[in-house]
Amino acid sequence: MDVLLQQLKCIVGDDGWQTDPSVLEPHLTEWRNVVHGRTPMMVSPETTGQVAEIVRACSAAGVGLVPQGGNTGMCAGAVPDASGEQILLNLSRLNRIRNVDAENFSLVAEAGCVLADVRSAARTVSRYFPLSMGGEGSCQIGGNLSTNAGGINVIRYGTARDLVLGVEVVLADGTVWNGLRTLRKDTAGYDLKQLFIGSEGTLGIITAAALRLFPDPGETVTALLAVPDALAAVTLLGNLRHALQDRIQAFELIGSRAMEYVQRHIPDVRLPFASPWYVLVDAAGGSAAESLQAALMDGMRDGTVVDTAIAKNEAEAEGFWRARHSISEAERREGIGVKHDISVPIASMHEFLVKGEERLARAVPEAEPVVFGHVGDGNLHYNAHLPAGLEPGREGELRTRISQVVYGLVAELDGSVSAEHGIGVLKKEWLEAHKSGVEMRLMRTLKDALDPKNTLNPGKVI
Ligand code: FAD
Ligand code: MLT
Ligand code: ZN
Repeated sequence: MDVLLQQLKCIVGDDGWQTDPSVLEPHLTEWRNVVHGRTPMMVSPETTGQVAEIVRACSAAGVGLVPQGGNTGMCAGAVPDASGEQILLNLSRLNRIRNVDAENFSLVAEAGCVLADVRSAARTVSRYFPLSMGGEGSCQIGGNLSTNAGGINVIRYGTARDLVLGVEVVLADGTVWNGLRTLRKDTAGYDLKQLFIGSEGTLGIITAAALRLFPDPGETVTALLAVPDALAAVTLLGNLRHALQDRIQAFELIGSRAMEYVQRHIPDVRLPFASPWYVLVDAAGGSAAESLQAALMDGMRDGTVVDTAIAKNEAEAEGFWRARHSISEAERREGIGVKHDISVPIASMHEFLVKGEERLARAVPEAEPVVFGHVGDGNLHYNAHLPAGLEPGREGELRTRISQVVYGLVAELDGSVSAEHGIGVLKKEWLEAHKSGVEMRLMRTLKDALDPKNTLNPGKVI
């Protein structure tokens, strides 16, 4: 290990490595402070060439390398294990926007670019990069692609996977694959970039990406709605999509307990009404405001909508979104949460919620379900909070029982145990339990082929 550490220091130079425990500390646990790891060194390369040298050195030494972006991931994929023998590869200094091409509707960003900065770079040429989420001020485009992140605009633009034209990747032996093509159409052979998107650093290190840009969607109208239940929300979603077609940019469902937590823990959040369920909608483009208003009037008439608050200005719209984006932070402050990021077909959403509540109440009466999510994409964050002060053994037992209920129902309804957060370490056992033998075998075949020494993010995903 000492020889490797010396080599790494030479590769990145004096400013590019850290062993100081106080500096390392925030990099060794994830956002929710559930998993804690150790590392002898964090390296922060500035160029793709340095990443390649680091990967080559670790591969030669047979030492695991854990890529880390903004470390906002929800499944502890970016944290080294507890052995103290994995090197942490921090990509924050690889953060140049290499090219913005308004005519080609494309942008090339290095992996360490913060998502909010990528969105701003697109705006400078009057273009739009749609990936957007609560953590966008900290997460990095490399992390977004590696988790195939979703966020609030998937309903119109797709997940991270759909927004990529090409990638630059360092393979497990240190070879650099420059796949930064900016073509919209390319059926020449296998679509190799897709192997690396969503593979959470286990098949290669993404060092840069060519991203798709879109026309500016125009003025956005934001409305917070009170709806009676999730069934009404799903019916409303269908009606709004019919009326506004692809002008619906976001459609989020939020249960009252999630909003209660936000009001308890986040200062200055005010809601215009109280409701068992809320929907937050963004619509943009070609008289979206008038069309949305008309469709919501229809919703009031047919009972899918109980109350509406259409934001009068940007500040009000931001206030509504602030409430929505504060849920994760409010949950963290509330205490012990068992998080699930599931998807089911939209038509099964109501059944999932009704059966989930019934079964959870029977199996773990002390659990409080906290529900919110990107319902436009069939994606629910179906979390359960437990009372404080449980003995560690009891807490573990309840966590397992809760997840068994949730994932059991997901399987019955042909859903997924991870809609947008990935697998990391926290969901490995559930992946194994819910994927078929054929799928697991194919995934292992890919891992063995692309990382035969198992040095890229070992122990994650599979
Ligand atoms: P990290 O957490 O650093 O890493 C995530 C995974 O990718 C790890 O396995 C890591 O090893 C790997 N990785 C990182 N960079 C690279 C690279 N360059 N090459 C190869 N592998 C790499 N997620 C959503 O999908 N939708 C949301 O709406 C959403 N909202 C969020 C809101 C908040 C408040 C927070 C804290 C998180 C949210 N997330 C959401 C989760 C998280 O932000 C996303 O998963 C994000 O994409 C992770 O990016 P990151 O840079 O922080 O990655
Ligand atoms: C969200 O939609 O807010 C995120 O996915 C984060 C979370 O689930 O906590
Ligand atoms: Zn989400």
